[in-house]
This record gives sequence, C-alpha cells and structure tokens, in this order.
Amino acid sequence: MATNPPTAPVAARFTDKVAIVTGGAGGLGHQICLGIGAEGGKVAVLDTNAEALEQAVAELIAGGIEAVGHLVDVRDAAAVTAAVTAVATYFGHLDILIAAAGGSLATPRDLADIAPADLDLVIDVNVKGTFNCAQAVVPHLLSAGGGAIVTFSSIGGRSTSPVTGVPYAAAKAAILGLTRRLAREVGPGGIRVNAVAPGLFLTDRLQGMFDAMTEVDRAGVLDGIPLGRMPQLQECVDPVLFLASDQSSYITGAVLDVNGGRFMAG
Ligand SMILES: NC(=O)c1ccc[n+]([C@@H]2O[C@H](COP(=O)([O-])OP(=O)(O)OC[C@H]3O[C@@H](n4cnc5c(N)ncnc54)[C@H](O)[C@@H]3O)[C@@H](O)[C@H]2O)c1
Repeated sequence: MATNPPTAPVAARFTDKVAIVTGGAGGLGHQICLGIGAEGGKVAVLDTNAEALEQAVAELIAGGIEAVGHLVDVRDAAAVTAAVTAVATYFGHLDILIAAAGGSLATPRDLADIAPADLDLVIDVNVKGTFNCAQAVVPHLLSAGGGAIVTFSSIGGRSTSPVTGVPYAAAKAAILGLTRRLAREVGPGGIRVNAVAPGLFLTDRLQGMFDAMTEVDRAGVLDGIPLGRMPQLQECVDPVLFLASDQSSYITGAVLDVNGGRFMAG
C-alpha cells in the first residue's frame, strides 16, 4: 500500500522578521501576534485599548516572544509615524505591517440610526487609519529591501452582510482600492500589499453583535455558508500569516476571501 512520505517540519516563516500589528490587542490581532511570534517573529502592537494592550503584550512576552506595545490611535498620522519610527529604531528594522485596527466600532447598523460622527469614525479608523500606517511603514520596508503589508477588508465590503451597516461596507470596500493602488506603487520596491476579507469570526465583540441579530438573520448567515459552520479564529490567522510570509512571494494586490464560501468572487 502506498504511504505518504513523512511531512517535513514547516520552517519558521518569521525568524528575525519584525511585524507591526495594529489592533493587535483585539480578537484577531492578538491571535495574529501569537502566530507571528510562534514562528520566530518580533511583534509591535499598536492599539487604543490601554488595558487590553498591556495584557496582550504581557502575554506575548510571557510566551517568549519579543514584543512591545504602543498606545496609538491609527487616525493620528503623526502619532502613527512616531510609533513606527520608534519600533524600527528599537528592533533595528521593520518587515511587516498587519493593519487590523478597525471594525464597525459599536456604531449603529441601520441607516436611520447612523449619525455623522458614526460615519466619520468608521471611515477614519478603517480607511484613513490603514492609509496612515501604510504610509508610515513604507520607507522602513524599502530600507529593509522589501516587506509585506496585509490590510483588513471584510465580507461586509465584498457583498451585503446583514451584520454590519453602510459605513462599514463603504470603508471595507475602500480598503480594497487602497490595497490595489498601494500594491502598484510599492511593488517595485519589493513590498507586497494584500487584503484579507474575513467572513464572520466570533471574537468577543462579534459574538455580541451576532447574538443581537434576529433569529432569522442568524439563520440566514449560517444557511449562506457552504461549509456549514462557523469558523475558528485560527482559520483567519493562518491566511493572514500566509499573506505576510514569503509563501505568498508572488502575490500582491490580491484579496483573500476567508468566509467558508459565503461570498464567492466572480
Ligand atoms: N471578527 C470578524 O468577524 C471580522 C470580519 C471581517 C473583518 N474583520 C476586521 O478584522 C479586524 C480585526 O477585527 P476583530 O474582530 O479582531 O476586532 P476587535 O474589536 O476584537 O479588535 C480591534 C482592535 O482594534 C483596536 N482599535 C480600534 N480603534 C482603533 C484605533 N483608532 N487605533 C488603534 N487601534 C484601534 C481595538 O482597541 C481592538 O483592540 C477589523 O479591521 C475588522 O473590521 C473582522
């Protein structure tokens, strides 16, 4: 009987790499930090939640991962630039940006309930925040001879998710345009820029939103997933690590849908 050859151990993909993870104290961001660190990477976490940031960095360090935290609002371009410079100086170089800070940020979903400040918040954090971080890291990635940027779109920006509203859809669609145009501009410098577009991953924040939906909407989400189940967080982390690593060395300007088939691109 034919047997499979023994699987070679997967080499650590982030040995000596330095990654900035915005929103790295949050549900997906923290798991991504752990994943990068587990494969030899050094991690800088940028987040606005002071308590979660402290806990997240402490957990990374306790796990033997070289990590620092910076309390930074990605909407503040000057603060982002200062933090990015501090991280590059501290670690000596910079290779990866994971721009995960974002979300619908507790703003209302339904059109009539959305105030101008809600629209500003969602656009500013998701779109301008991603732009600010990308603009700040690019000179450092060029100095390092190249690098990888992973942006965060969403199924909400790819189709019409019932979970989130119009501002979120607009912001997450804008991130795709940002990703493609940036990929074109920085590609010659060896920098790859790709987006991940997750479906519904039940982090603490999303579990609350999911629970608040009607039974019909919840059933609609599940019925619309060809794989027929909700995912584990790791099933979003792994595709992000792929895009951040040299395993995707010839992929740029792409969007990776990670949604169990709920949205399938044409
Ligand atoms: N969880 C999902 O199902 C899902 C689906 C699609 C897309 N996404 C996207 O993935 C990313 C991470 O989502 P998550 O579920 O981990 O969310 P989360 O709320 O658990 O984490 C987001 C983190 O970003 C931080 N943050 C918020 N505003 C910030 C700001 N202005 N500056 C710096 N940090 C800020 C928060 O403090 C938090 O730690 C988001 O961009 C989100 O839109 C998530």
